[in-house]
Amino acid sequence: MSGEVAARVREAAERVRATLGELLPQAEGPEARLTEAMRYAALGGGKRLRPFLALETARMFGLDEAQVLRAACALECIHVYSLIHDDLPAMDDDDVRHGQPATHIAYDEATAIVAGDALQAAAFEILADPRTHPDANVRLELIRRLARAAGANGMCGGQAIDLIGVADDLGAMARMLRLKTGALIAHAFEIPLVMAHAQEPERHALMAFAHDLGLAYQIVDDLLDAEGDAGLMGKATGGKDLAKGKTNFVTLLGVEAARERLAHLKAQTKAHLDPFGPRADPLRDSVDFVLERRH
Ligand code: IPE
Ligand code: IPE
Ligand code: MG
Ligand code: MG
Ligand code: MG
Repeated sequence: MSGEVAARVREAAERVRATLGELLPQAEGPEARLTEAMRYAALGGGKRLRPFLALETARMFGLDEAQVLRAACALECIHVYSLIHDDLPAMDDDDVRHGQPATHIAYDEATAIVAGDALQAAAFEILADPRTHPDANVRLELIRRLARAAGANGMCGGQAIDLIGVADDLGAMARMLRLKTGALIAHAFEIPLVMAHAQEPERHALMAFAHDLGLAYQIVDDLLDAEGDAGLMGKATGGKDLAKGKTNFVTLLGVEAARERLAHLKAQTKAHLDPFGPRADPLRDSVDFVLERRH
């Protein structure tokens, strides 16, 4: 079962990489250092989890894969930009990403900042293109929802709270995680929901699912930060957050309690799929795969 999911994840990742390679500007002209840095960050690795989830959900709704793939690549551009900026010295100050020098190390800080900015712009350019969807209303809705997921009420808001820290308030921590990680993961489900003109009960169920999955995903990231293998992860671990004085789910609760919380969340996450019946089996399998990740 999980072998099948692993194969589907790999296949989706290859398609995302190829499509991003076509969508992103080629490195030429005097701005080549910027476009090279964008391609370096976007094509160099990553599990492509968010696009994978969008594509799996799209199958449930019988949607056009090429269109979903483009919208999923737009989402991945935002994710990649968030990681470039997250690694900067002013933020987490991490030198390694995807087993390679982080973008600001491979290039320089200023180039990394502009590459992140330009990837964000590229995301919206991709969504606004009629090849992403022939209906302008659908495109506009995708743009609006991605902007919200990326902005002050989404990923950026979560990053801002993370920078200040949430002391030892578990409620504030959960909200921070919902914004910094949950919002972009939820957008993976927004793409098929918007394209399929899904009705409220389906939207409600999938958003509740996305919400718990996003929270669980970040708890796994925090557990891996504490105990993961840096080589496998392709980024610093070994209690990096704790060493840097950063509060995360595990520094706050401890490994055991975080694991218990995760097991509970896993069951709760899957329960949100009950209304879809067997149609959602691929998503159920994905939950185990995504939450049992080692990197
Ligand atoms: C890393 O996300 C940061 C988090 C929000 C947990 P991913 O683990 O999905 O990043 P990739 O796979 O390296 O792109
Ligand atoms: C990053 O969270 C979340 C975003 C980039 C929005 P982390 O700072 O925990 O991610 P890693 O551990 O560096 O991948
Ligand atoms: Mg961070
Ligand atoms: Mg980080
Ligand atoms: Mg982390």
